[in-house]
Amino acid sequence: MSSTTVNSGDERSGMRPVAPDASGSRKVLQPAWVRIVHWVNAVAIVIMIMSGWQIYNASPLFPFAFPRSITLGGWLAGALLWHFAAMWLLMVNGLVYLVLGFATGRFRRKLLPLSARGVIGDTKAALTGKLSHDDLSTYNQIQKLLYGGIIVVGILIVLSGLSIWKPVQLQYLTALFGGYDIARYVHFACMALIVGFLIVHVALALLVPKSLRAMIIGR
Ligand code: HEM
Repeated sequence: MSSTTVNSGDERSGMRPVAPDASGSRKVLQPAWVRIVHWVNAVAIVIMIMSGWQIYNASPLFPFAFPRSITLGGWLAGALLWHFAAMWLLMVNGLVYLVLGFATGRFRRKLLPLSARGVIGDTKAALTGKLSHDDLSTYNQIQKLLYGGIIVVGILIVLSGLSIWKPVQLQYLTALFGGYDIARYVHFACMALIVGFLIVHVALALLVPKSLRAMIIGR
């Protein structure tokens, strides 16, 4: 890593870097509740995506189907069982994350401030190898954008899913999406965004192993 590393997100948020305390042990970077909801969410999302692909295959929106080997459930009815079971896990866990994220001030502290200039600056720094990962206690502008964005996509995929699950009982919600058919496309687009996010997210977690360690053991 270059000695001229920058992390404009850190400067803007004004948080102090993580330093070993007197006993030599480092501060908690990811509190236990964040780690628990994060990993429960990861399991729920993977089940939702793989069973969702099997459900999609029964009535494809586009001229392609997902390979059977990467789907879950075996057939339509089996996939629906997995999808509806993991749906509750995803929704309850997601609600806990949203409530605690707002109530503890985590969203404000970790995801704000966010600006177009900051994102462009940190993207340039990342592309030239100057984006620092030394201080894991604050997210850079790209992380803030991606994490904030994926939270919004997570809310959208649940709402569009509810509106195609119960289009009669939740007709006002379905109407908000422009009807059942459009809600299906929205649901699919959100899935594609989450899969794209996951590929980048997991690659970066593996490239910066100490961030993965913090998401597992907290420090
Ligand atoms: C399954 C593999 C996954 C791995 C290995 C992984 C890894 C990580 C790591 C290491 C962090 C801390 C990142 C950092 O310091 O920048 C993190 C944070 C985060 N991850 Fe994941 N993740 C996974 C799945 C997911 C999924 C499926 C989602 C959502 C669709 C997700 C959403 C997030 C969010 C929103 C944060 C920020 C959490 C916060 O600070 O409140 N992750 N992840």
